[in-house]
Amino acid sequence: MYDVMALRSEFPILDRILPNGKQLVYFDNAATSQKPSFVIDAMNGYYTTYNSNAHRGAHTLADEATTALESARASIASFFGADPSNLIYTSGTTEAINLVAYAWARRNLVEGDAVVLTEMEHHADIVPWQELSKEIGIELRYVPLDLQNMCLDMDAFKHALDGAGLVGVVHTSNVIGVRNPVEEMTKLAHQAGAKILIDAAQGASHERINFTQLGADFVTVSAHKMAGPTGIGGLLATNEVLSECGPFLTGGQMIRSVSTDGSVYRDGSALLETGTPRIAEAIGWGAAVEWLSRIDFMEMHAHIKRLALMAFEGMNAIDGITVFSDPRRPDSNGTISFLHEGLSSEDLAMLLDEGGFALRTGQHCAQPLMDALGVASTNRISLWLYNTEEEIQSFLDHLGMVCERFGT
Ligand code: ALA
Repeated sequence: MYDVMALRSEFPILDRILPNGKQLVYFDNAATSQKPSFVIDAMNGYYTTYNSNAHRGAHTLADEATTALESARASIASFFGADPSNLIYTSGTTEAINLVAYAWARRNLVEGDAVVLTEMEHHADIVPWQELSKEIGIELRYVPLDLQNMCLDMDAFKHALDGAGLVGVVHTSNVIGVRNPVEEMTKLAHQAGAKILIDAAQGASHERINFTQLGADFVTVSAHKMAGPTGIGGLLATNEVLSECGPFLTGGQMIRSVSTDGSVYRDGSALLETGTPRIAEAIGWGAAVEWLSRIDFMEMHAHIKRLALMAFEGMNAIDGITVFSDPRRPDSNGTISFLHEGLSSEDLAMLLDEGGFALRTGQHCAQPLMDALGVASTNRISLWLYNTEEEIQSFLDHLGMVCERFGT
């Protein structure tokens, strides 16, 4: 049975009382998730007992740090159904996508090749391609939204694949919570001769993504949205595309030898990690996947879905609130974007914050999606495994009270 109260008790921050005396209600999980003590303790353990650089020293602490760093890589790779040699540590999803743009696409795409993106992309999966387009003349194509059904227009996607070298698609929208048919998109991209990159920053905390089964060429993830620390994420990449990469950041660690005449680089994923590794962060992320491995993701999904439906129905019943997401969709992860007719999203967020409710406001780093929806910004609640019915009910009560007070 899904025991939400037992899960909550592992997250010390969820007991937080805010300066205005209100109990924190954390609904900003798409921005970053909270961390269980298990993760915090693992990172503290590193700093308090074996802090040392990895891959560099010939002493006990250095050995322990190296072992912990690489055992975290093995756990994280295994969580994603990948071999450790296919996981490259990055600072997060943004850096992972930039890595693909610089180290792979720059060498394997040529002027006139198309990169197929979607209107649902986060800026992290748009701007690197715009930069590359300026540099080497690739053509960018954006698959539009089917606004009737609030999902990608798959006919337009198929059409856009003609002459494509790469597809970049978000696994799950950070704004409307729609999970794209990434399995089908991977097959279609490959049939068209294109590689595919899946931005799973949001998807990885809601479902178990298996890199090998998915068959995509690149999958990008961020630790901090899945109970891990900020500052680390990863690129999962196949051996084929890794063998086609050139260096990204250069310096220590990615080299075999350096002389004043030149340098010889390492191969595969080792080519793509430079400088002192993110040791504490990798240990924290490794602990996060160990902790998450105990969770039944199907039960978690059903729990989040139940809460999202309750929120959706309640919000639709409040005068003045327009909801842009539809958690009734089977492919929704429960993230709900909404607006008040009379209040700006910033004012509404401030009034909700007064009640202790933490949620995100703005364009969510997804301006093309905002344009498609015809709005400048939205308010957004994004739920995760520790949210409760009581929190949703108190949110609906507070939102109803605000809307009554301010009218439309
Ligand atoms: N991309 C993250 C979000 O959607 C930060 O909030």
